[in-house]
Amino acid sequence: MKKCVTVAMAGFGLRGRDYAKYQKNNPDIMKIVAISDPNENRLNDAAKEYNVSKEHCYKTAEEMLEQPRLADILFVTTQDKQHVKQAIAGIEKGYHIMMEKPISPYLDECIAIMEKAHEYNRNVTVCHVMRYTYFYQEIKKAIESGIIGDVKSIQAIENVGYFHQAHSFVRGNWRRSDETSPMILAKSCHDLDLIAWLMNKKCKRVSSFGDLSYFKKENAPEGATKRCLDGCKVQKDCPYDAEKIYVTDSITGVKNGIWKWPCSAVVHEPTVETIYEALKTGPYGRCVYHCDNNVVDHQVVIMEFEDKSTADFTMCAFTTSDGRQIKVMGTLGNIVGNIDTHTVEILPFGKEGKKIDISKLAGDLDGHEGGDMLLVESVMELHQSEDNIKNNLTSIDASIQSHVMAFAAEYSRLNEGVSVDLDKFVNEQL
Ligand SMILES: NC(=O)c1ccc[n+]([C@@H]2O[C@H](COP(=O)([O-])OP(=O)(O)OC[C@H]3O[C@@H](n4cnc5c(N)ncnc54)[C@H](O)[C@@H]3O)[C@@H](O)[C@H]2O)c1
Repeated sequence: MKKCVTVAMAGFGLRGRDYAKYQKNNPDIMKIVAISDPNENRLNDAAKEYNVSKEHCYKTAEEMLEQPRLADILFVTTQDKQHVKQAIAGIEKGYHIMMEKPISPYLDECIAIMEKAHEYNRNVTVCHVMRYTYFYQEIKKAIESGIIGDVKSIQAIENVGYFHQAHSFVRGNWRRSDETSPMILAKSCHDLDLIAWLMNKKCKRVSSFGDLSYFKKENAPEGATKRCLDGCKVQKDCPYDAEKIYVTDSITGVKNGIWKWPCSAVVHEPTVETIYEALKTGPYGRCVYHCDNNVVDHQVVIMEFEDKSTADFTMCAFTTSDGRQIKVMGTLGNIVGNIDTHTVEILPFGKEGKKIDISKLAGDLDGHEGGDMLLVESVMELHQSEDNIKNNLTSIDASIQSHVMAFAAEYSRLNEGVSVDLDKFVNEQL
């Protein structure tokens, strides 16, 4: 029988809670044995839900990591700037690590954790969940089959979604690059990772443009108040109105029984009453034109790879949906993928193409097109057998390139789109 893999959790916020769910359907494969989170509600609920003894519930990951090693793997699902210190302490205690992206907002920290993983011979898996989805796996398989020839260019778009931008990048946790990460890293290290992985070549240079052009006070319509519930005169027609997004909207609002994200980020237990209370005083009730945000609302990155193949990527707030689209162009055909419709079309030139309905392949498309659970499944498999120890799709080594691309893209954006040579950039930064 395969072993049950034990897990200690650093942080039990939205991401931690999502990954923990794997245990519910797979109690013989994964067992959470220790939890840490300074948020008492989250800690107590988690302990009850996963039957974790009181003695192994800790206020902080730091306190938990002072104990002797408690589990096989440490899940690091705290905020961006906390990941690396906690993961390094975990490696030194003997844990294998599954850590949230971004690895860190600093290049030297990304390199430090990779070196630590090598030194202690530990697995560090980065939560680049999109690679695990059937959607991107089918695209990767098609490219590797040779059916579209040699890939010459990739075009990808990340539709952030107007409500997602307002929630996370204007009012919420990732609104300030100095507090967390620049948006090209926080939101799009997935996309840069996917492009580099699908291309399967080294990215040589990037150039980038983008700006925070809209969500600022000079764009506030006349009559807009600092908080949406304070008698705002334009509330009815404003798509970014907090009451609409968190209370009444049929997709995101709690009134319609949607108690999941984004409402779960606003309060621990979303109800109409608790959400209204939070909107009156908390960050999510602020007018989108009157926040303290500084991250972009649109950005493009163009990339050149070692054999002169190219890619272009657009991230934009101003979209209805928050799905991704991609086109991979090869010498013998192209592949068109649309996450909104869950379809991948493989179209060789002059031959009959094939349309794959991803919803028929994947049992559950919840949580990043099913990627969240597929990542945990893969991490569990990796640690059930020592033989598989190297078969790690999103290892720290495999994940760093996307971060270097993001750091360089941000540098380029802040320097009028200058072309950045990645090797030189890394040498200068370290
Ligand atoms: N892989 C993805 O697609 C994806 C998606 C969204 C977010 N993220 C990343 O996941 C991470 C977590 O995001 P989230 O939305 O769950 O945030 P969150 O704020 O809901 O969760 C973080 C949790 O860490 C806890 N915490 C703070 N200090 C701690 C400490 N010292 N020890 C232990 N716990 C501590 C907080 O109380 C909170 O409950 C972020 O880095 C974010 O960028 C990744």
